[in-house]
Parts: sequence; structure tokens; C-alpha cells
Amino acid sequence: MQDKKMIFSGVQPSGCITLGNYIGAIKNWVKLQKDYRCIYSVVDMHSITVRQNPKELRARALQFLALYMACGIDPDESIMFFQSHVPAHAELSWVLSCNTYMGELSRMTQFKDKSAKHEDNINAGLFTYPVLMAADILLYGTDLVPVGVDQKQHLELARDIAIRFNHLYGDTFTVPEGYIPPVGARVMSLQDPTSKMSKSDPNPNGYIWVLDEPDVIVKKLKKAVTDSEGVIEYREGKHGVNNLLSIYGAIVGKTPREAALEFEGQGYGNLKMRVAEAVCEELRPVQEKYKAISEDKSYLESVYKAGAEKAGELAEKTLRKVYDKVGFVLR
Ligand code: TRP
Repeated sequence: MQDKKMIFSGVQPSGCITLGNYIGAIKNWVKLQKDYRCIYSVVDMHSITVRQNPKELRARALQFLALYMACGIDPDESIMFFQSHVPAHAELSWVLSCNTYMGELSRMTQFKDKSAKHEDNINAGLFTYPVLMAADILLYGTDLVPVGVDQKQHLELARDIAIRFNHLYGDTFTVPEGYIPPVGARVMSLQDPTSKMSKSDPNPNGYIWVLDEPDVIVKKLKKAVTDSEGVIEYREGKHGVNNLLSIYGAIVGKTPREAALEFEGQGYGNLKMRVAEAVCEELRPVQEKYKAISEDKSYLESVYKAGAEKAGELAEKTLRKVYDKVGFVLR
């Protein structure tokens, strides 16, 4: 149905898909499939802004795709593809970069953070990365982009670029909006609950990998940082406990406050065990499905090839329009 709104989102195949990506993003993507036309990309071109081991990158990209499906993204409903398989992303990115100001890109906080972290490799791609992300979004006439708070600034830039281009060349792009899920949790690191659970955290105890074995999940949750008050409450400042309650709530369908009531008067040890049980239970079917899908290489290949073909068709249409507007001789 063409009157459904369009959704685009992507995850970079770096690090590994964590419980944070699952609860904060992918679980929502699955729900959106019914009411929207959804395109979910494994944005491999974004990953190489940071040095990657080529063999590992390839394996990880495939693993991410298999995990999207294991989590419930259905290739019959949504388009899934590797960003590098649709050349229009790089092509539009160039045109958009000629309509983006250095000053705008210099203000991106993620650029500042990443260039501080990778001082030896502050490459131009790291700087222009938000333009590539804008291309990802604008190629598909995207109405809504489900992103976390860390990507809001990039989305805002994509909107600004779209508005500017439309103003200069006439109506071309749909101006996208951020999609904030009605219920969703921002999962924090288990070791430093004031920062987001990150898939590239060097300390594996900070995150739960969606493919972690149950005993590993239990071990990591047992080590989760809490506080010394020993009281289970959802309250400002209790970062560690709040995080455990949010994780539990997101899985069982309760608000963190409701979850806190369930555990009132109990100890942290018990809370951690109950969270671990809920997480293991939630991830078991994902892990089983992942095992089946990842063993079936030809199925995986058929999914990403069909995905790239469908995405490519849509993307080409937009690119053609853009090339025409800026004055290129049409092919
Ligand atoms: N930059 C996003 C991230 O690091 C990933 C991404 C790339 C993305 N292109 C996108 C997300 C387009 C949403 C839409 O998380």
C-alpha cells in the first residue's frame, strides 16, 4: 500500500548488537512493520569511518542482517539491504555534501567525540558522515526515522539539508521527522549506568550481546553496577537500579516505576536474577532463530540481493530527480 508512511533506519555493523540496540531500536522496528513501509539497512559504508578489519567487517555485516531477521524483521514485509549494495547512497551523498556547510558539520557532537577518540585517524569521511546519513534517509522519501537521542543532531541536519535543497531547486525531498517510540527504553551500560550501553564498549561487562549465552548474561547482570543504598526505587540519581528496572520493564511490558513496585522491599541480588531470567527468556527465541538463519547462507543471500534490488529501484528514482534538478545531462 503506497499510502503508508515510509520509515528508514540503519545500524552500523561495528561492535555487536546489544540488548540496548534490541530494546531501544530493533524491537520497535519489528512493531513498525505492520503500519509503515519500512527499510532497514546495514549501513556498512558508515562503519569504515573508523578502521575496520575487512574480514571481520564482512562477517559482521552478514551477522547483523541475520540478526535483524532473527529479531523479527520480515523480508516479506520490510526491505533489508547492505548500504554498499545501492550505489545511489554514495552518489547522492556527493550532491548533498555540496549543499552542506563546513560549519554545520563542525558542530556535530559525534564528530567531536569520535575525533577525540581516534586522534590518529580523523579522516574526511568521519567529518562528512552525517551527509551520507542524510542521503540514506532522503533517497527513500522517508517520513519517519526511528533514532536514539545520540542521532537527533544528525537527523536535524538531514532535515536542514532537505529544506535547503528544496528551497534552491524546487520540491524534491520529503523532510523527515524523528520517530520517538511511544514506549522504549534507553538502555545504559551495566558498568557505567550514566552512559548508553554501547556496542563498541571495550569492556564486555558493560553490555549484553544478543547472542550471549544465558550463563554469560547472568554473570554480567550479577556484576552490574548499582549503589550502596540497597533500596529498589525508580528515582533520580539511582542510575544503575533505574537501568535494571527499565530493562526489566521494557521486556515484560511495564514502566520502570511499575517494575519498581514489583520489587519493593527486595534486595539487588534478587532484582538482578529476575532481570537476567527475563533477558534470557526474551533472547532465547532470537538466538534459536539466528542459528537457523545464519546457517542458511543462500537464504541470507537471497534476502539481501532482493533487498538491494528493491531499495535500488526507489533510490535511483530519487537520484535521477536530483541529478536533473542540479543540471546534469540525464543518462
Ligand atoms: N548514524 C547512525 C548510527 O550510528 C546509523 C545510521 C546511518 C542511520 N544512516 C542512518 C540511522 C539513517 C537512521 C537513518 O546509529
